[in-house]
Amino acid sequence: MNTAIEIQNLKKNYGDTVALKGVNISIGDGEFFGLLGPNGAGKTTTINILTGLVRKDEGITKIFDKDIISDYRFTRAQVGISAQELTQDWFFPLDRLLYFQAGYYGIPKEKAKEQVDDLLYRLGLEEKRNSRLRQLSGGMKRRFQIAKALVHDPKILILDEPTAGVDVELRHELWEYFRELHKGGKTILLTTHYIEEAEMLCDKVAIIDEGKVIKEGSPKSLTNQSGKSGININISDKDIDFDRLLSDFTYTNNDGRLHFTTQEPEENLPIIINLLTNAGCHIQRVETTKSSLEDVFLSLTGKGINV
Ligand SMILES: Nc1ncnc2c1ncn2[C@@H]1O[C@H](COP(=O)(O)OP(=O)(O)OP(=O)(O)O)[C@@H](O)[C@H]1O
Ligand SMILES: [Mg+2]
Repeated sequence: MNTAIEIQNLKKNYGDTVALKGVNISIGDGEFFGLLGPNGAGKTTTINILTGLVRKDEGITKIFDKDIISDYRFTRAQVGISAQELTQDWFFPLDRLLYFQAGYYGIPKEKAKEQVDDLLYRLGLEEKRNSRLRQLSGGMKRRFQIAKALVHDPKILILDEPTAGVDVELRHELWEYFRELHKGGKTILLTTHYIEEAEMLCDKVAIIDEGKVIKEGSPKSLTNQSGKSGININISDKDIDFDRLLSDFTYTNNDGRLHFTTQEPEENLPIIINLLTNAGCHIQRVETTKSSLEDVFLSLTGKGINV
């Protein structure tokens, strides 16, 4: 897989504030990558360096193998960003703002019109095309921001908290749209506080805290490592030789309350139930527990992600 975004040892201070302490991230072409971390972790700083809004102090930042400073024309054309801060432009209607954006990337008029019409339709903003930004609701502004990022049909889409402040229904619609864009081949870098969002969408996530990536992997591999997944089974029979029966499993037995530690509770559950029922056990209660990225974050940092 080609590398779409390469970040090595990225460092940034704002005066006395150390924002990035040496961030390393590599994102493959076509990957859906999530940057997950609490307030102030350094997500926006990382993204703003990639798009040239903030100047780095140290480190390597490349887009499709080209340096973002020496090859900025090329690299900037590859990326569309929906920034965390909403655009403030009071004077022009939405479609004009999108045409300006297309013009900025040198897209011919005809092509721009096609693209703008399509985006306004896809993002449910058709009826608002003649409105000014100040006349839109927060969720509509967020959608406009995403349309603006996509006007030049970039290979890489960067979404900084794209569903912050967006209601549940619209959030699901946006997720569906992001999935479609991903299926269509776009590389997507998303930052979020919503663990569920990262778990639902991303092939890979990096957990960032206090300016450093502290863990990286697929959501599944990370949640498996946190060790919280398991199975609880209550049985009424006490006189069974569980150690022999369940020798293939890691478990504890607390007076008939069996707790199994397993990375794959769903796969192991039927096997265990079979073993127990064949041995004549009477099962009273069954429960599986799955750990989430929130658990992973908590176990790594000792704090919740939304604090
Ligand atoms: N322009 C700035 N001037 C001074 N300090 C800044 C500036 N921008 C960010 N910082 C500081 O850098 C650190 C990282 O901030 P950043 O915005 O990158 O975090 P974040 O992970 O995006 O947080 P959030 O989830 O709240 O958006 C914070 O301590 C923040 O206060
Ligand atoms: Mg941010």
